Formats: sequence, structure tokens, C-alpha cells
Amino acid sequence: MTGRFEGRVVLVTGGAHGIGAATVRRLHAEGAAVVVADLDADAAARIVDELASRSSAGPSASTSAGSVSAVVCDVRDRTSVDAAVAATLERHGRLDVLVGVAGGDHPHPTLLDGMDDATWAAGVDLNLGGPARCVRAAAPHLPRGGAIVLVGSVNGLQAFGGEDYSAAKAGLVSLAQNLAVSLGRRGVRINVVAPGTVRTRVWDDRTPDKFVPLYPLGRIGEPEDVAAAVAFLASDDAAWITGVTLPVDGGILTGPMTAFQQLDVD
Ligand SMILES: NC(=O)c1ccc[n+]([C@@H]2O[C@H](COP(=O)([O-])OP(=O)(O)OC[C@H]3O[C@@H](n4cnc5c(N)ncnc54)[C@H](O)[C@@H]3O)[C@@H](O)[C@H]2O)c1
Repeated sequence: MTGRFEGRVVLVTGGAHGIGAATVRRLHAEGAAVVVADLDADAAARIVDELASRSSAGPSASTSAGSVSAVVCDVRDRTSVDAAVAATLERHGRLDVLVGVAGGDHPHPTLLDGMDDATWAAGVDLNLGGPARCVRAAAPHLPRGGAIVLVGSVNGLQAFGGEDYSAAKAGLVSLAQNLAVSLGRRGVRINVVAPGTVRTRVWDDRTPDKFVPLYPLGRIGEPEDVAAAVAFLASDDAAWITGVTLPVDGGILTGPMTAFQQLDVD
């Protein structure tokens, strides 16, 4: 593993589970000092312990130069988000990269089936308001060469259901485009990754592998697939990429051909 993040400080919201945790592991392995900002204090503490023990475990730890620590944070709350950024600056004296992973969806009625206003507002606030709050707090501190990566979804690019969640994820595409202009003048980049189905705990009581036939690459994603793309966009390897949304989706967005093939259409 190369040390693309040696000497860099990264704040990862939602870093205690799933895609966020894989991102924390990846960036730490590439040398970053990582602050895990998450609602789930116990899980955040577990990943800090895991990586701390790896760092002191011997030769393989030599590339894991960065430290890892946690801060309890609720991205729905401006004060909490501002405090997480302040804690990062206090601990490390700088902030180079923001990765906004915190978000998610839960079963509820569709819009036309009676979704209430509170449910709509909560979905949009968590998945669009949260990342926007994090960007507002972090951006003033990011140096030239700094980067922001937000985790969207294929739901923000095509119709997969979940109107509030999907509209919020679509909003991230526009947020990144607009902020790329203002941040670009300061040499700071902002991009979005849009994962397809990824095997995390959110699918624990369902069977995500039923979606495999929809994926040209013949499998659903693993958290590490998304973490690799986040690391790329956060690194200097993506130094001339800003304002884009990168699907990390096993090809599900290629179009209707996979569905047609299943229908055996001539
Ligand atoms: N798993 C998928 O199939 C999939 C697909 C596309 C996009 N995504 C997106 O990827 C991101 C991570 O999803 P995941 O599957 O790893 O989920 P997950 O539930 O495993 O992880 C989400 C993390 O965010 C934290 N979190 C939740 N609400 C928070 C809040 N208000 N403030 C701070 N932290 C909070 C949780 O504690 C958890 O650590 C989400 O934004 C999700 O929408 C997931």
C-alpha cells in the first residue's frame, strides 16, 4: 500500500460501520491520521482500538503511520458537526480531507403511499443537510490541495425507489458541482462517489445477493470497493478531478441491457 496520505489529517463521518469503517481502514493503511466522527460511540471506539493495535503490531504497521481517534458526532446537528471539526483541529493542528459517509435510509411509506412531512424532512436532512453541514464546517480549514469526498448513491442518479433518500443523494451531485466552483479557486476539490448495493449491516435482514443478476460484474459491492474509490478521489492522484460523481456500482447504471437479457428479449 502506498502512503498517499502520509502527513495528512482526515475526518470521516459515519466511520464506525460499513463503508465508512472500510474507508477509515484504507486511509489509515495509506498513512493518514484519521478522526472517526460517528453517532455510535462504542463502534467508533472499536475501530480505534483495532487500528491502534494494528499500528503497534510490528513490521506490517510501518506503513500505518497515522493515528486514529474518535469523536461522537451527529451530522444532523450543526453544533455537533462544528465540534467534531474543532476536535480534529485541536488534536492534529490541521485538516486536509473530509469524507462524508454518514447517511442512510430506513423502511417507511413511499411519498404517494402517505409518507409524512417529518419522514421526508428527516431523510433529506440526514443525507443532504448532514453532508452540507460537514462541508460548511470543514471547508474553511482545508488547505490548498485539500479534498472533500461525499458518499452519495446510485439512487441519486437513476430511479431505484426511496424518494426522500434518493432526492437527497441527487442533491449531493449538485452540491458538489456548485461547491467545486467556489472551492476550486482555493485549490480544494470536492467529489461524490455513488455506490450501488454494498454488503453492509443495512442489508443484514434482507438478501442483497438477489440483486446480483442486475450487476454486469456479477456481484454486489463490498465496502472496500467504495473505500478504494474514496481514497483515489481524496488523493493527489485525482488532483485535476473536481465536481464529479463517480458511480462505484459494478455497472448497474450501464442501462437496461441487463434487465433485457433477463427477459430474454431478442
Ligand atoms: N450499503 C449500501 O448498499 C449503500 C449503497 C449506496 C449508498 N450507501 C451510502 O453509504 C453510506 C454508508 O452506508 P453503510 O451501508 O456503510 O451504512 P452503515 O449503517 O453501516 O454505516 C453508516 C454509519 O453512519 C453512522 N451514522 C448514521 N447516522 C449518523 C448521524 N446522524 N451522524 C453521524 N453518524 C451517523 C452510523 O453510526 C454508521 O457508523 C450512507 O451514506 C449510505 O446512504 C450505502
